[in-house]
Amino acid sequence: MVIQDISFVSAPKDSASIVVGVYAGGQLSSSGLFFNDKFSGEIEKNIKKIGFSGKLFETTSFVSSGDVCNYVVAVGLGESRKSLTGFELKRLGGSIYDAAKKLDTEVVVAIDDADLTTTGSSAQLQIAFGALLKSWAFDKYKTEKKDAPKLSSIYFFTSDADSRQKDFGKYRNIAEAVFLTRLVVSEPANVIYPESLAEIAKKELLPLGGKVEILNKHQMTVLGMNALLGVAQGSENEPKLAILHWNGGTAHEKPVVFVGKGVTFDSGGISLKPGEGMHEMRCDMAGAGTVLGLLKAVALNKLPVNVVGVMVLVENMPSGTAQRPGDVVKSMSGQTIEVLNTDAEGRLILADALWYAQDRFSPEVMIDLATLTGAVIVALGHEFAGLFSNDDTLAEQIKKSSDATGEKVWRMPMTEHFNKGIDSTIADMQNIAKPSVRGGSITAAQFLKRFVNDVKWAHLDIAGVESTNDDDLFICSEGATGFGVCLLYDFLCNACVK
Ligand code: BES
Ligand code: MG
Ligand code: ZN
Repeated sequence: MVIQDISFVSAPKDSASIVVGVYAGGQLSSSGLFFNDKFSGEIEKNIKKIGFSGKLFETTSFVSSGDVCNYVVAVGLGESRKSLTGFELKRLGGSIYDAAKKLDTEVVVAIDDADLTTTGSSAQLQIAFGALLKSWAFDKYKTEKKDAPKLSSIYFFTSDADSRQKDFGKYRNIAEAVFLTRLVVSEPANVIYPESLAEIAKKELLPLGGKVEILNKHQMTVLGMNALLGVAQGSENEPKLAILHWNGGTAHEKPVVFVGKGVTFDSGGISLKPGEGMHEMRCDMAGAGTVLGLLKAVALNKLPVNVVGVMVLVENMPSGTAQRPGDVVKSMSGQTIEVLNTDAEGRLILADALWYAQDRFSPEVMIDLATLTGAVIVALGHEFAGLFSNDDTLAEQIKKSSDATGEKVWRMPMTEHFNKGIDSTIADMQNIAKPSVRGGSITAAQFLKRFVNDVKWAHLDIAGVESTNDDDLFICSEGATGFGVCLLYDFLCNACVK
């Protein structure tokens, strides 16, 4: 389900297959030349014969004619002195994994830091990280693993094997965290429901020194979380609020708070969704899944910062006890909401979770992640998450981390026009905009903004990016992407660690 072994070696392995880097124009990288000499020039000859371009990310492979190794995979490194971004290096790792996965059980990668230019940390580490991320697949329910890849070990050839191996630990931890997010997002709703997901959070974080509180329905009732409870009331599965703590900073430092939408299944409620595609709504807890993965990454790497993760967990179902369109609820903040559409449930549960989080933790910053609207997919496709914020500096910091990690965000506007669109005639607000006001993702964000007080806040609408149907997504196979874990981990390291 994921590559077993990624390690760094300073002596070449006999009989494994070999991956060499080729620049645009056809020259081998210096580590590649080392192997070419060992093979009496065979690699270079073959690359010329095939006419391999060396274009960045392109790969080709051929059987080795000698008995020194099984296969040779050539991967394009592009223009030789062009600096590659962290994301390009990860993507290179993904291409290498894909080119080699069916060929052999083990490969040696002959691309070292000296072969590439990058502004970030070790190029080889980033390549290894990308290969690891690409190798994860959700195959646990396949009783026969017919198409399973052969490849089980990748050895990176380097003169610096020991220190590189040690430094890779940090990346492996982040990958483990991404895999946790991908796993819980992929699992169906008969496995992942509020209680089971809250238990997973405990099981994952307690052994790492994190703390986990789980609020039940009674506690939420006492707190007055009626917007959240209204969504949950049609389901047999009780809602939970899982609060994850990582206290890596000093006691007086305000925490960075992440809030994740965790609708473990969104049928739409009484405003029922059409049947076609409804099964995809098992992924409607991706925001909460990302918060969980992020906290795991932070705890594994022991980041020196105080972080709180709030997973707001409910199931949105139609039943005799379900909330009706037109019901009015009083949120924890005291503001009243007319629920005109029970399928606009994400903003209702987040209203109480955001209010609770800012009220209890006085965050330094608060960021929520939610598969909030179909409209964000209309606007930004599956390429960008929608970024909304009440603070330009915060938005810039998130954009920087987005550029570094390749998890793309696009900032969207928030203005009074959209804010007015959710004023209700009988309550303080309604949960969908008046028909004349379009821009569904913006009105949803304006709704959330009414519950953040004046805390610095950003909202990521991840409805279009939490999963992919595209097997060619470079560092992720088809299915859950784990979007947000690397992005927000980078944000914590660069904008929050003192
Ligand atoms: N979970 C959905 C949003 C969604 C749609 C996520 C498609 C992923 C893919 C959300 O709860 C929802 O149903 N939103 C409605 C809002 C509408 C009723 C204002 C939508 O987008 O249709
Ligand atoms: Mg919905
Ligand atoms: Zn939803």
